[in-house]
Amino acid sequence: MEIYTQSDLLTAFLTKEHLKGRKLGFVPTMGALHEGHISLVAKAKSENDFVVASIFVNPTQFNNPDDLKNYPRTPEADLEKLQMAGTDLVFQPEINQIYGEGMQNEEQVDLGNLDKVLEAEHRPGHFKGVVQVVSRLFDIVHPDRAYFGEKDYQQLAVIRKMTSDLKYKTEIIGCETKREKNGLAMSSRNLLLTADERESARVIYQALQFIKANWKLNGAKAILAEAKEMINSHVPLKVEYIAIADSKMLLPIESFSPNLEARVFAAVFCGRVRLIDNMAI
Ligand code: PAJ
Repeated sequence: MEIYTQSDLLTAFLTKEHLKGRKLGFVPTMGALHEGHISLVAKAKSENDFVVASIFVNPTQFNNPDDLKNYPRTPEADLEKLQMAGTDLVFQPEINQIYGEGMQNEEQVDLGNLDKVLEAEHRPGHFKGVVQVVSRLFDIVHPDRAYFGEKDYQQLAVIRKMTSDLKYKTEIIGCETKREKNGLAMSSRNLLLTADERESARVIYQALQFIKANWKLNGAKAILAEAKEMINSHVPLKVEYIAIADSKMLLPIESFSPNLEARVFAAVFCGRVRLIDNMAI
């Protein structure tokens, strides 16, 4: 497994690889890797000839400085996991390798409603930062396919919009959410939870399943209120938002319609750690 830290050297190397007609799969991450990340690498490996993963904790997408400071970092274990998963190359840049030439592209992407609802409403500027970094990474790596998790469903939608607006030739592949045995969606931030908190946090998954089972008959509003109560009654959980929206534009849905693909989205504080989850309903 090769490790690159410099953008220009990486681009030069990958351009050569590309010339050989090999398909390049790319998995961008912020490290503190778990089985969810590794499942993206495995999918990329099965669909491409060469797999690149990046590890870069992108400061511009953190709207809260404490969150950035406390973000888990496990660089040695990450490299081991990527190697085990058969990653061909890891890009591990310092900040100047990404933002050395200043910020680019973010003004050219109109995220519309995607930058107003759900995560965007509660994390102002977050998706602007995601667009900045992923467009820079695409410019450096030039992937044929890039892999993103449905765990961050709104991010996946944002990346699809960015890819189309900026006319990247990269195909965006969405990958299903990997969960712990108790249902909790795997997340780097789970490392910040105590064992008890991890156990309580499974209620988030239970509440989403409860919504899935009941909202068609009872309507969104009543079921969402019940689910919120269900989560909030478990100290230390506190719902920031829980909402049903359509899977394309992420606009709110009030009642079931067979023509709309609906998903439920939630952000919940578990103590000081903010967790998100979603599922098709
Ligand atoms: P990070 O949170 O490290 O996640 C990297 C990728 O792994 C994302 O596409 C995310 O959706 C996916 N992922 C995380 N948890 C998952 C799970 N439980 N199951 C399946 N996939 C999962 O998302 C980011 O980093 C950053 O915003 C990034 C795209 C790298 C830009 O900085």
